[in-house]
Amino acid sequence: MRASTYNFRFSWILSLWLCACCGASECPLEVTPARVVVKYGDPVLANCTTTVEHMGMGWEASQGSTKMVKNVSSVVWRVANLTHWGIKPMCFANFQTSQCDKVLNITVYKHPDSVSLKRHSNHTGPIEEGRQYKLVCEIQNVAPLEYLTVKWYKGQLEVHNKTYNSDRKTPVNEYPILLISPSRADDGAQYRCAAVLDLGPEGPQPPPVVQSEPLSITVQYSPDILSQPHADGLIEGRDLHLNCTAVGNPVPTFKWNYTSANNVEVHTSGAVSVLTISTITKDNAGNYTCIATNSQGQSTMTFPVNVARGAAQALVAVGAVGGVFLCIFLVGLGFCFYSKMK
Ligand SMILES: *[C@@H]1O[C@H](CO)[C@@H](O)[C@H](O)[C@H]1NC(C)=O
Ligand SMILES: *[C@@H]1O[C@H](CO)[C@@H](O)[C@H](O)[C@H]1NC(C)=O
Ligand SMILES: *[C@@H]1O[C@H](CO)[C@@H](O)[C@H](O)[C@H]1NC(C)=O
Ligand SMILES: *[C@@H]1O[C@H](CO)[C@@H](O)[C@H](O)[C@H]1NC(C)=O
Ligand SMILES: *[C@@H]1O[C@H](CO)[C@@H](O)[C@H](O)[C@H]1NC(C)=O
Ligand SMILES: *[C@@H]1O[C@H](CO)[C@@H](O)[C@H](O)[C@H]1NC(C)=O
Repeated sequence: MRASTYNFRFSWILSLWLCACCGASECPLEVTPARVVVKYGDPVLANCTTTVEHMGMGWEASQGSTKMVKNVSSVVWRVANLTHWGIKPMCFANFQTSQCDKVLNITVYKHPDSVSLKRHSNHTGPIEEGRQYKLVCEIQNVAPLEYLTVKWYKGQLEVHNKTYNSDRKTPVNEYPILLISPSRADDGAQYRCAAVLDLGPEGPQPPPVVQSEPLSITVQYSPDILSQPHADGLIEGRDLHLNCTAVGNPVPTFKWNYTSANNVEVHTSGAVSVLTISTITKDNAGNYTCIATNSQGQSTMTFPVNVARGAAQALVAVGAVGGVFLCIFLVGLGFCFYSKMK
């Protein structure tokens, strides 16, 4: 009873041990490196080794197959110019009781021939603020898709990225799209896209990147008037300049709405329109409205103008009256003096 329990335990432990041992080294072949990353057309090699006696081992592959060789502990798979996309090099060996193989983990890659960023051909007109547009990153002839990351940049800022789930090994053309809804702040912004092949630690470091030329976008937007209305309470006789400066794309045109007068002139240059009232009078008082317009809309700004009786004129008046009195006084004084002398 006791012995049988012991035997049972022993055989159980033994079978467990055998299982673990044989499971782990079921195929006593080792391929080094464990993974290779090779550029299409480049040389590559891998080494298959074993410590177990065998009746022959070798490599089987669509490029670089070897003969089955005996009495060696390693066989090297070597290709001078790897040009098979789907290659699956396999090291095999015949042992006393079994045959087994190990497949080399290999990634064959290729940089894209070109990467360029374009507007989707559906929109050919100007880019208008607040509408949605598509920017297409055209990537030609890249492999493998599984390791491709497409990144989009606005200026230096990464704004979007895209990765792929695909086990396709051969080169492909890809046309991923970035959706943008530009605002006026984006007028003149430069977009780029980049195809990054992140092939892992066995791949080239840093991961190779092919970038597009920058794509500048021009955004059309309605005018905004930057000027602030001036302080009012102007004095008669002075000159007044009302500065109406606007931003907008296309550059806005200007109109002024006011009660016309001979002493009012408007000069517009680019996005600045200046209305000048020379020697302002009370008749010029009122609202002066600047209207900036372009294809995207218009914006208005009203400058209220109040005209006060000039302090200078008041002074002149006081001075004149004073002068007359002084004159009379002097004349009177002189007359008295003259009389006394007499
Ligand atoms: C392959 O591995 C064996 C055993 O580690 C070593 O002796 C041999 O030099 C290796 N061959 C190459 C080409 O690395
Ligand atoms: C582009 O326009 C065509 C018709 O003008 C339409 O059928 C197609 O869906 C549009 N494509 C995109 C991506 O908007
Ligand atoms: C891709 O974008 C996501 C957010 O959309 C970000 O978390 C991630 O880090 C980006 N990946 C890369 C490789 O830049
Ligand atoms: C009008 O104002 C803008 C800024 O508000 C300024 O750059 C410009 O020089 C001014 N022009 C005139 C003629 O005053
Ligand atoms: C111009 O001013 C007049 C009178 O103040 C007003 O009736 C008219 O609507 C204004 N026009 C514009 C374009 O603002
Ligand atoms: C100027 O416009 C304001 C409102 O914008 C109005 O209250 C005022 O009466 C106007 N002045 C004149 C002289 O039309």
